Order: sequence, then C-alpha cells, then structure tokens
Amino acid sequence: MPLFARETDRGSVVGMRRLRVRPVLPAIIAPLLLLTVAGSSGIEGCAYSPGRVGYVGNATCMGCHDGRSASDMRRFRDSAHAGVSCETCHGPGYDHVRVGGRGGLLIDNPAREPFAQQAEVCTQCHQDTVRGYERTLHATAQAASCHDCHDVHREGGLSKAKQGPVANRLEAIAETCSDCHGVQTAQFLESGHAQAGVATCVSCHDMHREEMFTADPVDNSLCLQCHGSRFLGFHTEANIDFHTGDFHPVDPAQSGASRCTSCHMPPLEQEGQPDVPHDHTMAPFPPAATNELLGEGVFPVPPNSCAGIAGCHDPAVPGSGPPFDVNNPMDNTFLQELYETIGELP
Ligand code: HEC
Ligand code: HEC
Ligand code: HEC
Ligand code: HEC
Ligand code: HEC
Ligand code: HEC
Ligand code: HEC
Ligand code: HEC
Repeated sequence: MPLFARETDRGSVVGMRRLRVRPVLPAIIAPLLLLTVAGSSGIEGCAYSPGRVGYVGNATCMGCHDGRSASDMRRFRDSAHAGVSCETCHGPGYDHVRVGGRGGLLIDNPAREPFAQQAEVCTQCHQDTVRGYERTLHATAQAASCHDCHDVHREGGLSKAKQGPVANRLEAIAETCSDCHGVQTAQFLESGHAQAGVATCVSCHDMHREEMFTADPVDNSLCLQCHGSRFLGFHTEANIDFHTGDFHPVDPAQSGASRCTSCHMPPLEQEGQPDVPHDHTMAPFPPAATNELLGEGVFPVPPNSCAGIAGCHDPAVPGSGPPFDVNNPMDNTFLQELYETIGELP
C-alpha cells in the first residue's frame, strides 16, 4: 500500500487521521476491532476500553507493544512517565488499534514530525525546559531534538540507554553526547573529572538554556562553582594568583589572564579556532610537548597552554600579553621555563 508509506508520505497519513470519522459507537465497533486484532496478531489483551472518544488506554497499547506483535515498550513502566497515558504524546490510538497497528499506521510519532514541531508534545508538561531548549544551538541549527538525548519510555530518561545497560548516570550522559561529539567525549572520559566521577557534560553544559553553560566560563564562574570552594582551593583571588605564577592578574573576563579555560582547555588546532574543539581532558598542554610534535614534523602544531591561543599572547590582538609564536621552538623553550613556575595548587 504505497499510499500509506509513512516515511515518504506522512502527509497523507495525517490527512487520513483527520478525515476519519471518530468512533461514536464503540459498542458496535468493538467486536470488529477484536476481530481485526485477533485476525492479525492473535494477541490477547488488546481489547478496546472505552474512555474519551478515540482513546483506548495504556493497557490496550501494551497488549501488543510487549514485544510479541509490536515493538517492546514494557520498560515504560519503569520510566518517570509511567503515570502518563501513551496517548498524551501519541494522540488517540483507536484507529491505529483498529487496523491491528499494521505498519505503525494511524498513530502520531513525534520523531516523524518536522524538526521544529518535535518538541511540542513535551510542552504540555515541560514548558520552561522546552522554551530554554528552543534557544540553544541544538534547536536553532536543527542538530538535536529532545528524543536524540531522551527516551521517555525508559528509566533514567536517556536515549543512549537504548543500546544496553550503562555503568552509571555520569557515564550514561557522556555516552548520550558521544555519537555527535566524539572528540570531546573521548577526551573527557580520560580526564581526572571522569576518572574520579565528580563531573559530567551537564555539570558544565546546560542543554536547556540558550548559552548551553551552567555558569559563565569567561569570568571563571563555570569552574569556580566547584573549584571556588575552600576544599578545592580557589576560593580567594590570592589563591588564583598563586596558581598562575603571580603574573596573570585575576581579571578573567576583561584580559583573559587567569581564565581557567585558556590554559586548561586550549583549542586542538591553531586555525579556524572558533569552530575547533577544545581540550576536554582539562590537563594543561606544556610548550615542551609542542616542540616534540614539531620535532616529529607535525605542522601546523596544535596550540599549547601558553601560545597559539587566539587572544592570549596573540600578536593579532593588541594588549593580549607579550606575543609568542607557537610554531617557533625557541619561543616554546622559553615558555616551558615559565610554565614550570605555574600550576601549583593553592
Ligand atoms: C511523554 C511522551 C510519551 C509517552 C507518554 C509515550 N511515548 Fe512513545 N514516543 C514518544 C516519542 C517522543 C517518540 C519518538 C522518539 C523515540 O523513539 O523515542 C515515541 C516513540 C514511540 C514508538 C516508536 C519507537 C519505537 O521504539 O518503537 C512506539 C512504538 C511508542 N512510542 C509507543 C508508546 C507506548 C505503547 C506508550 C505507552 C505505554 C508510549 N509510547 C508512551 C513519546 C511518548
Ligand atoms: C493490535 C496491536 C497494536 C496495538 C493495540 C497498538 N499498536 Fe502500536 N503498533 C503496532 C504495530 C504492529 C506497529 C508497527 C511495528 C512496530 O513498531 O512494532 C505499531 C507501531 C506503533 C508506533 C510507531 C509508529 C511509527 O511511526 O513508527 C507507535 C508510536 C505506536 N505503535 C503506538 C501505539 C500506542 C500509543 C498504542 C495505544 C494507543 C498502540 N500503539 C497500540 C501494533 C499495535
Ligand atoms: C503529561 C505530562 C508529560 C509530558 C507530555 C512529558 N513529560 Fe516528561 N515528565 C513528566 C513527569 C510527571 C516527570 C517526572 C517529574 C519528576 O519526577 O519530577 C517527567 C520527567 C521527565 C524527565 C526526567 C526524568 C526521567 O528520569 O526521565 C525527562 C528527561 C523528561 N520528562 C522528558 C520529556 C520529554 C522529552 C517529553 C516530550 C517527548 C516529555 N518529557 C513529555 C511529565 C510529562
Ligand atoms: C543534547 C541533549 C539534550 C537535549 C536536546 C535535550 N535534553 Fe533534556 N537533558 C539532557 C541531559 C543530559 C539531562 C540530564 C539528565 C540527568 O541529569 O540524569 C537532561 C535533563 C532533562 C530533564 C530533567 C530535569 C532537568 O531539567 O534537568 C527534563 C525534564 C528534560 N531534560 C527535558 C527535555 C526536553 C523536553 C527537551 C526538548 C525540548 C530536552 N530535554 C532536550 C539532555 C538533553
Ligand atoms: C544528534 C547529535 C547531537 C547530540 C546527541 C548532541 N549534540 Fe551537541 N551539537 C550537535 C551539533 C551538530 C552541534 C553544532 C551545531 C552547529 O554548529 O551548527 C552541537 C553543538 C553543541 C554545543 C555548542 C557548540 C558551540 O559552538 O556553541 C555544545 C556545548 C554541545 N553541542 C554539547 C552537547 C552535549 C553536552 C550533548 C550531550 C548531553 C550533546 N551536545 C548532544 C549535535 C549533537
Ligand atoms: C561539578 C564540579 C566541577 C566543575 C564544574 C569543575 N571541576 Fe575540576 N574538579 C572537580 C573535583 C571535585 C576535582 C577533584 C577530583 C579528584 O578528586 O581527583 C576536580 C579536578 C580538576 C583537575 C585535576 C584533575 C585532572 O583532570 O587533572 C583539573 C585540572 C580541573 N578540575 C580543572 C577544571 C576546570 C578547568 C574547570 C572549568 C572548565 C573545572 N575543573 C570545573 C570538580 C569540578
Ligand atoms: C568542566 C567543564 C566542562 C565539562 C565537564 C564538559 N565541557 Fe564541553 N566545554 C566546556 C567549555 C568551557 C567549553 C568552551 C570552550 C571554549 O570555547 O573556550 C566547552 C565546549 C564544548 C563544545 C563546543 C566545541 C568545543 O569543543 O569547543 C562541545 C560540543 C562540548 N563542549 C561538549 C562536551 C561534552 C560532550 C562533554 C561531556 C563528554 C563536555 N563537553 C564536558 C566545558 C566543559
Ligand atoms: C596560566 C595558566 C593557568 C591558568 C589560568 C589556570 N591554570 Fe590550573 N594549572 C596550570 C598548570 C600549568 C598546571 C599544572 C599541570 C601539571 O602539573 O601538569 C595546573 C594545574 C591545575 C590543577 C591540578 C591538576 C592536577 O593534576 O592535580 C587544578 C585543579 C587546576 N589547575 C585548576 C585551575 C582552575 C580552577 C583555574 C581557574 C581558576 C586554573 N587552574 C587556572 C595552568 C593554569
């Protein structure tokens, strides 16, 4: 039945649903329905339970969606949405059930809506979250939808869990991003943060907020939300000064000197820096390591924590500290000596 081919002809299916007269006499139609269901799948428990017109209730859905005659949705019972009716998100299921669910016809699937409308179904209950998300780059660039990260039918609510059990929530979140941000995820999983299990992507990135940060990285509040505690040591300006060798004045927002991310998250390439990934191991990259790469013939070399970063010791930006050339081994040798005087924990 090419007319009903969902992926290529969603419009006609939607059209059909709209045109279809809603069942006003369930008592008459119910036996018919049972016949269809029995005929196509022979499953018990798919009885039509009259409620709101066109709505059949979760028990009916689960009668087929238990993995025997249709995809297995039993995990839904362990999800945060277990108390929500399937049809709140999928629309009335009567017509779908009446045709035995055949081919997944006659039922809304939010993932098959045009991108801009996919989040609408969540607005019913998560209005503020949706509003925040809609301003993120994931939404405006049509790069990732709610269900790219979330599986509402599953405990924990993360889509990646579809692929099997995950060790813990912090890792599950990183896995959720890994398909699309492989470089950042691989680096992050190597980091002290991941090894110690103290942070994950959403400790720093808020997925439902325009700037996608939990706090501002420019004025250091992003890192200081944890490192600014007495326990982790950076709770006074003097401590930060001490850490940066006393020659990077604490003025992260204006001059960039003493900005944690400058030294701890340099870009991985010199050119086109705005679009280049930043180091997510968070371990500073010493100038001596750059010279090793130069020795191996790598060119252009990646920036290190001291040189090659736009805006830091950058000849192109006036007032950004004494300029150094990351491609020049002499400059790097000089910087390595300074590097060794910084980075002590307060
Ligand atoms: C909170 C909203 C919501 C609820 C409640 C909900 N779903 Fe879904 N469902 C979605 C979204 C969004 C998608 C598309 C994204 C995806 O596949 O996860 C979907 C996809 C599906 C799919 C197709 C994908 C697949 O894995 O086969 C089926 C089948 C399905 N849902 C059945 C159900 C059943 C049955 C229930 C009730 C037991 C239910 N859903 C409850 C939102 C919901
Ligand atoms: C008579 C059996 C049966 C019942 C009852 C049933 N379904 Fe289905 N459903 C199917 C079959 C068969 C498919 C297609 C294959 C698959 O996804 O397993 C399907 C597919 C779907 C899809 C995927 C559609 C797509 O675009 O890919 C959704 C969503 C869905 N069902 C939701 C529901 C909901 C919600 C209910 C309850 C209102 C329900 N189903 C009741 C048999 C049924
Ligand atoms: C009918 C209301 C309703 C709709 C519609 C709805 N949700 Fe929820 N959602 C809830 C409730 C209730 C909770 C549990 C809240 C709590 O425990 O604080 C929840 C929790 C969540 C959670 C976090 C907890 C978890 O473990 O899953 C996520 C993620 C989520 N919803 C995503 C979605 C997405 C994505 C959609 C749209 C596809 C959606 N929800 C649609 C009611 C809804
Ligand atoms: C790029 C991935 C991504 C996208 C897109 C995304 N989320 Fe989330 N969301 C997450 C992660 C990761 C968490 C944190 C989960 C945790 O802490 O276990 C989360 C948490 C949530 C929560 C739990 C409470 C909270 O606010 O922290 C809700 C509700 C939620 N998301 C709903 C949505 C809805 C609705 C959409 C679409 C409008 C959406 N999310 C889009 C990744 C995403
Ligand atoms: C389905 C793919 C997909 C998933 C899953 C995904 N992202 Fe993204 N994300 C993208 C794409 C594509 C872009 C770049 C959009 C552009 O530049 O036009 C992006 C951009 C971003 C940006 C902003 C980059 C900038 O230049 O401002 C951040 C931060 C981000 N993602 C974090 C995450 C995190 C954290 C997760 C997991 C919780 C995640 N993403 C999951 C596809 C995805
Ligand atoms: C959610 C809290 C949190 C945030 C946010 C955070 N950190 Fe951490 N960080 C920690 C904790 C806790 C440790 C100590 C881990 C341990 O015990 O090994 C740590 C350790 C570190 C280490 C040493 C371990 C290693 O990876 O070599 C560095 C470097 C570091 N953080 C840099 C940063 C930077 C830079 C930022 C901001 C971009 C930041 N952190 C943001 C909590 C956080
Ligand atoms: C400790 C804080 C922190 C953690 C944890 C973190 N990020 Fe980031 N991330 C940042 C900062 C800060 C930037 C911006 C760097 C810049 O532009 O200078 C960034 C940038 C990004 C970008 C934009 C491209 C780039 O690399 O600059 C993506 C995508 C991204 N992060 C994904 C992730 C993913 C996926 C995870 C988890 C696997 C993650 N991040 C964990 C702080 C963090
Ligand atoms: C001027 C560059 C620079 C700035 C700015 C900077 N750091 Fe560092 N940081 C270093 C260096 C270099 C090390 C030593 C790395 C090593 O030993 O390999 C270091 C080490 C650390 C360590 C310990 C790492 C370990 O392996 O135990 C933490 C934690 C840390 N920095 C956090 C921060 C925080 C938080 C900020 C912002 C307030 C910050 N740093 C700003 C250069 C810097």
